[in-house]
Amino acid sequence: MKSRWYKDSFFYQIYPRSFCDSNGDGIGDLQGIISKLDYLKELGITAVWLSPCYKSPNDDNGYDISDYRDIMDEFGTMEDFEQLIKGLHDRGIKLIMDLVVNHTSDEHKWFKESRKSKDNPYRDYYYWRKGKGKNGKKPPNNWMSNFLGPAWKYEEQTDEWYMHLFSYKQPDLNWNNPAVRQEVADICNFWFEKGVDGFRCDVITYISKKDGLPDGKIKLPLIGFEQYCLTDNYHKFIKELADRAWNRFDTTIVGEAMGITSQNAAEYIDEKAGELDCVFSFEHTNCDRYLQIIPHNVNLRKLKKIFARWQALPKTCTPTLFFENHDQPRCIPRFVGYDCKGYFDEAAKMLAVALYMQRGVPFVYQGQEIGMTNLPVKEAGYLKNCDDRERAFMKAEDVYEDVLSVNVLKSFKKYAPFTLPIVRKALSKVARDHARTPMQWSGDANAGFCVEGAKPWMTVNPDYVYKNVNLQSRDPGSILNFYKRLIKYRLGNELVIDGEFNEFYKDSKKLYVYERRKGKDALAVVCNFTGKEADFRLPEEWKGRNAHAEICNYDEVLPLGNRKLRPFEAVVYKI
Ligand code: GLC
Ligand code: CA
Repeated sequence: MKSRWYKDSFFYQIYPRSFCDSNGDGIGDLQGIISKLDYLKELGITAVWLSPCYKSPNDDNGYDISDYRDIMDEFGTMEDFEQLIKGLHDRGIKLIMDLVVNHTSDEHKWFKESRKSKDNPYRDYYYWRKGKGKNGKKPPNNWMSNFLGPAWKYEEQTDEWYMHLFSYKQPDLNWNNPAVRQEVADICNFWFEKGVDGFRCDVITYISKKDGLPDGKIKLPLIGFEQYCLTDNYHKFIKELADRAWNRFDTTIVGEAMGITSQNAAEYIDEKAGELDCVFSFEHTNCDRYLQIIPHNVNLRKLKKIFARWQALPKTCTPTLFFENHDQPRCIPRFVGYDCKGYFDEAAKMLAVALYMQRGVPFVYQGQEIGMTNLPVKEAGYLKNCDDRERAFMKAEDVYEDVLSVNVLKSFKKYAPFTLPIVRKALSKVARDHARTPMQWSGDANAGFCVEGAKPWMTVNPDYVYKNVNLQSRDPGSILNFYKRLIKYRLGNELVIDGEFNEFYKDSKKLYVYERRKGKDALAVVCNFTGKEADFRLPEEWKGRNAHAEICNYDEVLPLGNRKLRPFEAVVYKI
């Protein structure tokens, strides 16, 4: 029986490469994480999602796995991993790992075998097909890779193409093959037996491809999406894996779920079905983009509407609450603007209140708790409020490392160089790199991420000098200490965990106002999303109630009532 411990948890996502480097090679590692366990405990989180730490050639920073039962050389050894899990459990913190099984690395032994010959026993672990057109020199269908270009790569040796929905170094596994499904279940059980408490399942909605691999509709941004996302055998595969592995232990299974939205979620995450416990959906993180990639300003009304739909799901469907992860730009510039009109800390805290007082499983991404922000690349036009270090930084040409950003720049340079200024401008807002800069531990060299003299694998955000854990832990008013209070406040709080969600002033483009209610008791959540004062009128339902402020992002707490809210003010009142 599952205890469903995720319902009263606070998750912290670690992207190991950028968290803490213990041996001076400039790459974060497991001993680095171990050295920060007390930090995590003090922050108050109760579970960790660890991005992949398995053996990998790192074409996509570990999301291309060459051995599912071993640890990446740069990160350490299996002994380090065992020490990590023990260290977490000793502190009452659960651990979920990343399960990346839509594809493997092309350096995985299955693929190395598979590509050798058409009759190799591993051939059918992947999708190999004859090409189209004269001489088979055209891909088998028109699907596009999620990382640009065709989703197929030709191999001379056997004169066939293999499918890769991501980079060509990430060939897709053929889940129709029962042997593949058994391998995946065995991998899960291997880690459960080591004490791992669950998985975050990478692009899990892509595992079943439509029979016959038909061409996709010509539709941007991804041709083929409807032919491989949540199709044919998706439920069958998930149910089987849940039976064979996930539901045999007291686990939490979170799916990364392109294609799942507030409209269809109940079909995929209802507890009664025993499939995924919850999902990361991208409805709200796509609401500042055209075609999922071209940035535009967030429309608060739209954002609130998406949240409201998730909140309205039946009790047996649990949403997740997140703004950031290793694939998303930082939340402050995107949801409230880069400079926050001089109210940066208030804005960071307000976003946390707006999100984490909702119903769902909260996830905070490393660095979010100190208000880490996007790289100040020049195309972002952040010039106004920056210091000399940042200005120097902004002169640099493309700082991007991510395989997706690099592919984008390469392709546009080659095929449409005249669009480069626009492409660079878009990347400056949406690149995944923004989330991958090293964690800012201190004002020392390399932000304390690695020792002085070492070269961090990815550029450090120059704002670390005044934005780091060291400084913030000593300042009671810091973003970090606010997160600590908020996390503590949420855990075990019945109203926040499963109170009813009722929203007010849905049409406001400035305010986000809702309550969490259980009978007579309620929490009133009031957030000003603008950097200016904003008028607030007390909703009828709250009139005449005693109100006590429990959380506020200003030192001076003002009462609940008709008044002007201060810039980015956020208050939680118990009423
Ligand atoms: C997921 C991961 C992302 C990775 C992709 C391919 O979206 O979060 O980082 O590039 O899957 O594995
Ligand atoms: Ca290291």
